[in-house]
Amino acid sequence: MAMNYSPLVMDHFQNPRNVGKIENADGVGEVGNAKCGDIMKIYLKIENDIIVDVKFNTFGCASAIATSSMATELIKGKPVSEALELTNRAVVEALGGLPAVKIHCSVLAEEAVKAAVKDYYDKNGIEYDPEMFKEGGCAHCCHCD
Ligand code: FES
Repeated sequence: MAMNYSPLVMDHFQNPRNVGKIENADGVGEVGNAKCGDIMKIYLKIENDIIVDVKFNTFGCASAIATSSMATELIKGKPVSEALELTNRAVVEALGGLPAVKIHCSVLAEEAVKAAVKDYYDKNGIEYDPEMFKEGGCAHCCHCD
């Protein structure tokens, strides 16, 4: 059955922004979606606490690719602290919505951004509250289970 995707979702799926890899990235995050096995990897270049560049590779469905693309657009040029506040819900809203059965795909983007920031903090000895990166928290989740 064909999914009813918004024009923005189709646009970001067919023309994803910021695809690729950053050599010598300051933070790298890789996460897998436990529900389907899809994988997203995100690379951050950070200068003076600002995300000056971001790239991603997603091996996943159309929704995973579109949400990854939108997530990179939403955090590019922003302070690291703002990237940490990015929720899958905000990404879905920015895309004009996703079919309910695909909401779980958007969690990948949020988790990958957080994993990349955590990697950046770890590499630079920056202290943080481990609660922020609790595994499997799905803190902003959509109750899609
Ligand atoms: Fe796997 Fe969408 S079905 S992320």
